[in-house]
Amino acid sequence: MTNQPDRIIIFDTTLRDGEQSPGASLNVDEKLTIARALAKLGVDVIEAGFPHASLGDFEAVNKIAQAVGTENGPTICGLARATQKDIKSAGEALKPAHKRRIHTFLATSDIHLQYKLKKTREDVLAIVPDMVAYAKTFTDDVEFSPEDAGRSDPEFLYQVLELAINAGATTVNIPDTVGYTTPSEYGALIKGIKDNVPNIDQAIISVHGHNDLGLAVANFLEAVKNGARQLECTINGIGERAGNAALEELVMALHVRRQFYNPFLGRSPESVEPLTNIDTKQIYKTSRLVSNLTGMLVQPNKAIVGANAFSHESGIHQDGVLKNRLTYEIMDAESIGLTTNQIVLGKLSGRNAFRTRLQELGFDLSENELNKAFLRFKEVADKKREITDWDLEAIVNDEIQQP
Ligand code: KIV
Ligand code: ZN
Repeated sequence: MTNQPDRIIIFDTTLRDGEQSPGASLNVDEKLTIARALAKLGVDVIEAGFPHASLGDFEAVNKIAQAVGTENGPTICGLARATQKDIKSAGEALKPAHKRRIHTFLATSDIHLQYKLKKTREDVLAIVPDMVAYAKTFTDDVEFSPEDAGRSDPEFLYQVLELAINAGATTVNIPDTVGYTTPSEYGALIKGIKDNVPNIDQAIISVHGHNDLGLAVANFLEAVKNGARQLECTINGIGERAGNAALEELVMALHVRRQFYNPFLGRSPESVEPLTNIDTKQIYKTSRLVSNLTGMLVQPNKAIVGANAFSHESGIHQDGVLKNRLTYEIMDAESIGLTTNQIVLGKLSGRNAFRTRLQELGFDLSENELNKAFLRFKEVADKKREITDWDLEAIVNDEIQQP
């Protein structure tokens, strides 16, 4: 049996691994707001949290399962260590979701086994099929992750994955937990798994990686070339330490360079069929929302969603862009939902237009905040003919977010 998807599955873990970013903590309502935005963005799977970790996480996963896990909505996923207690909590929290997934994990690298888990490889070979089978009693959709796969012995990894798939895992995720691998190594790891795990066609190969060396996105793109069909990522790349692979970078790389990636999905290079289900026009707005709610600022030079990503400072560049945008732009700002280089709002614009555009950009301001921001907008509009989305963002950041 083979169940390979015809598009790349986008598995968003902003609410689980993303929320593990130092300083980024979200309450249940904020998580629900983000989950709704992720569904609108078109992600296939939302990893909504780690239900056994806290009552708050259980409640958030449960509410998201109910409100966002509708028939036509995304799959809702809960993380669980490979223990009965964790898996049971995840199974219960996810119950209201129409499509639900349990994501269970156990480390396979010797360094994690020896120092963190104090378990042997034999222990792992016994626990994994047991816990995957237990997770299957709650849902058919079970994902297994050998944590720290990037530093695990590949031969041992093949054995563990084969057992997990035999026990019913429908997705096997290969985490580069500490962001240690390089693109060619990670691509080779995925190829090794495809070539050496006998039942691999019965599962989807997923990738998960951290950005300790800034390589997570590059690693994933190499993994796609070698057979990975699910990408685990977060909005703005937030996550543990240096963060996770950034959703917006992956999606736009696949979108802008689809002629290059099409053949790896068995299509002709010219195919115009999208490679993911993401509505790219929702990217900017979702990025703003996540930044506002987590309090994690986006660096100005961040690819795709940074304030400078589409601005041209030098005279030569500005001149080129005015003659033909393609001279210095490889994608339209409009493709990520930005309205740029046009007069979005001006000094004659009213409060309503101002409020509507801010809402479109993902800012949900109170009346008081809106009043403050509107006054500032009028001051800026008096001096500046063109008020772009970036100006609006700066106004909100200056007026509202500063203590
Ligand atoms: O980085 C990691 O290994 C994880 C796992 C739980 C998948 O986040
Ligand atoms: Zn992770």
